[in-house]
Amino acid sequence: MHELLARWQRGWSRSRGWTNYTETDHVIAVQIGEPDRQVEYFTTDQYAEGAARMTLAAPHPPGSARLAVITPDPVRVAEALHPLKIVRTLWLMSTPLADHPQHPIPPEYELHQTTSAGLIHAELRHHGPRNPGRVAATGRIAIDGTDAVADMIRTEPAHRRRGLAQALMSTLTTQAQLQGATTGLLLASPEGHLLYTSLHWTPQHQLVFATT
Ligand SMILES: CC(C)(COP(=O)(O)OP(=O)(O)OC[C@H]1O[C@@H](n2cnc3c(N)ncnc32)[C@H](O)[C@@H]1OP(=O)(O)O)[C@@H](O)C(=O)NCCC(=O)NCCS
Repeated sequence: MHELLARWQRGWSRSRGWTNYTETDHVIAVQIGEPDRQVEYFTTDQYAEGAARMTLAAPHPPGSARLAVITPDPVRVAEALHPLKIVRTLWLMSTPLADHPQHPIPPEYELHQTTSAGLIHAELRHHGPRNPGRVAATGRIAIDGTDAVADMIRTEPAHRRRGLAQALMSTLTTQAQLQGATTGLLLASPEGHLLYTSLHWTPQHQLVFATT
């Protein structure tokens, strides 16, 4: 299995509470068990075709079994995955946590944070005159050994481009270091990619997501 993918998957599984997973024939299967998201498979492009057959054979309703393939060539992998439907391509990114930039929490926002079993959850609440305490940005980071996997980073549309996500990431990565983590990992959406690039995270590999 691809080392960085496996490390990211462990932290992501911890973040989501989807900790029932196994690796067979170079494919990691994460059992999720939600109606529209039953199982998610992860593999490398070398094993994409076999993993596609496994995904198609999964005894679940259409669209609820997904496959993600890590690859330097998303176009070629998309062809190899036929007849699965390509959903999206995301970037796996990493950073040394010691170098993470520190952005302050903007005025009028307050940090609320909880930590449990290797998972740090943080949110920024807006304290304007008309909305005392409304959640404006949320995110979490899961600790797995020396890795910290950031997940579900989101700023409410009305509060975007004010530096909230940068401040949240600064807080989460600082807390992760206090718990012994040295490397940050995450899977970035296109918008997230712009955010994490502004924080000097490095794109490592692309993941093509497909479904039945
Ligand atoms: C991605 C997201 C979390 C950014 O939140 P945010 O609070 O607006 O981010 P910040 O204000 O801290 O942005 C910091 C920098 O990131 C970059 N950036 C963030 N969003 C951007 C956008 N839509 N377009 C271009 N650059 C962007 C910019 O460099 C920005 O600095 P600037 O405003 O000085 O130019 C937010 O757009 C969001 O919730 N999107 C939907 C969910 C999502 O995709 N989350 C990421 C999952 S990986």
